[in-house]
Amino acid sequence: MIGMRAGAGSSPRSPGKPKMNAISTDEMTDAPAKIVARNVCKVYQTVNGPMTAVDDFSLDVAEGEFVCIVGPSGCGKSTFLRMVAGLDSHSSGTLFIRPGADPKKPLNSVVFQEYAVFPWKTVIDNVAFGLQMRGVSRPERLEIAERWLERVGLRKFAHYYPHQISGGMKQRVSIVRALANDPEVLLMDEPLGALDAQTRIVLQDELLRIWDETRKTVVYITHSLDEAILLGDRVILMSAHPGRLLATFPVTIRRPRTVETMNGAEFGEMRGAIWEQLGKEVTRAMEMQA
Ligand SMILES: Nc1ncnc2c1ncn2[C@@H]1O[C@H](COP(=O)(O)OP(=O)(O)OP(=O)(O)O)[C@@H](O)[C@H]1O
Ligand SMILES: [Mg+2]
Repeated sequence: MIGMRAGAGSSPRSPGKPKMNAISTDEMTDAPAKIVARNVCKVYQTVNGPMTAVDDFSLDVAEGEFVCIVGPSGCGKSTFLRMVAGLDSHSSGTLFIRPGADPKKPLNSVVFQEYAVFPWKTVIDNVAFGLQMRGVSRPERLEIAERWLERVGLRKFAHYYPHQISGGMKQRVSIVRALANDPEVLLMDEPLGALDAQTRIVLQDELLRIWDETRKTVVYITHSLDEAILLGDRVILMSAHPGRLLATFPVTIRRPRTVETMNGAEFGEMRGAIWEQLGKEVTRAMEMQA
């Protein structure tokens, strides 16, 4: 039997001024979670008036947890991730990443679907970029970057420029650039979405391996239900617009996992249980757009 918990969202919204990723002392002792989202709303001002993109969304992510978010197109997944990253403000509610012991560690690094690499920098300088921003000396940052490139089979390409490598390789560069920065939390918005099916499978395996080694706290958005179940400790289902938390599915499939895991009976059962709800939301979203 697949476990499922109904979505949070019944508590009243906290009105008031938008908060960025700031933390107050009471919030810090409130919960041990690494990422805390309580009754978060996002209202955009549009030419047609205010538009609620994310509505009363609550989610706690534990330290070292890999949480995947799925939901129909336009439901507010990227909006939520951008707010967690501090790239966008939330209109109400509470949202923060709990800092770790090392104040020099960045709170988060983000990996987007598009290959967000600097075309004028070599592969190794791209990977070392975050460390450079943090003032890490050149020999040290190159050593760290080289280690990460080695891990994803790109060492030979360290001195290539992005236009000289494939899409899959560029996305590997984006991922290890985020990891080399050693953030408290890794935020990924459809990082494999632009890749062909075969490259995607290879990178899913690489992500599993890297996560097994690093145990980073991850929030990962994907349109692929298989990917969400394969990678995640939990799959969060968001409703069609406006995005609310509809259901949470703990993934009980044992680790270490590989892409072979997707062939198992437990995996199929889980996929069926989530799709039963996700499918309805996708249809609902399409009807709303029609
Ligand atoms: N800057 C903005 N101003 C106004 N509306 C916005 C803005 N950014 C996003 N939206 C709207 O907010 C809603 C949620 O968008 P968002 O990009 O978060 O969806 P999503 O779930 O990531 O979709 P997809 O799966 O297609 O990437 C959409 O209706 C979108 O049009
Ligand atoms: Mg999106």
